[in-house]
Amino acid sequence: MPLTFRKLHPQFAAEVSPMALRQVTDPETLLEIRAGMDEYALLVFRNQHFTDEEHLAFAQRLDGQLHTKTGISALQKSRLGNEALADVSNLNANGEVYQADDRKRMYGLGNRLWHTDASFQDPPGRYSMLFARVVPPVSADTEYADMRAAYDRLSDEMKAQLEGLRVHHSIAHSRHILGFEFSEVEQEILKGAIHPLIRTLPRTGRKSLYIAAHASKIIDWPLPEGRLLLLELIEHATRPECVYRHSWQVGDLVIYDNRATMHRARPYADTTYRRELRRVTSLDVEYDIEQAGAAPH
Ligand SMILES: [Fe+2]
Repeated sequence: MPLTFRKLHPQFAAEVSPMALRQVTDPETLLEIRAGMDEYALLVFRNQHFTDEEHLAFAQRLDGQLHTKTGISALQKSRLGNEALADVSNLNANGEVYQADDRKRMYGLGNRLWHTDASFQDPPGRYSMLFARVVPPVSADTEYADMRAAYDRLSDEMKAQLEGLRVHHSIAHSRHILGFEFSEVEQEILKGAIHPLIRTLPRTGRKSLYIAAHASKIIDWPLPEGRLLLLELIEHATRPECVYRHSWQVGDLVIYDNRATMHRARPYADTTYRRELRRVTSLDVEYDIEQAGAAPH
């Protein structure tokens, strides 16, 4: 049966008709989901029942290879025992809510800055698939912005100015903004990656602004001038009317295209209430048909 998409925002984001994604293996449905991602850049699937293994397997079926270096995993072992499964929770290794001054909590607070997953790596992240297991009784939402629409809204002069620019992304930079300190060894591990400021999405040909809190400088530009432009572009892209705010329910799987969106977590009483999400992110490389057994990306 064909999927149906209910728009959640005038520009992007849609909720997909009910289905159990852990059982979706046929290439036709996977193709429809990819086509939906091309159009909406963010899809919401309600009432999913994934084990970690099913979550990982679905992500591979949908989008090929998985990213294993999307965050602090480069420095510290994940509580979940699989580096492709990111622990988006406020829980320590014993499953307890973090103390306010826990270093991992402070590091995670960087997710409240507008960003796109793993832009500080090469290859970066493509699709992130974020699954809600435990949500608090207070709002603990995630906001998303459509970076294709942000590009489209730029003046022709600005588009011409941005064409060909390259940006250095570093997670050390986004954490420094918040006063977080890394050792020299950690900084070396997290030294970052360079990506074009404007990306062209291969299947649709649409252009997208590829920026984030991780964006530390524009290559060959004076540092302050580049940072001011990056700040201006983030402000431009995230005006309230351009943002979709997702209110999590247990069982939600939200898939977002990191090439076409930015996101940020919103604050909540995170030293009081448990919140447990899991994220799997695909690697932004050519789609591996053999591995996924489905149609090409
Ligand atoms: Fe993120």
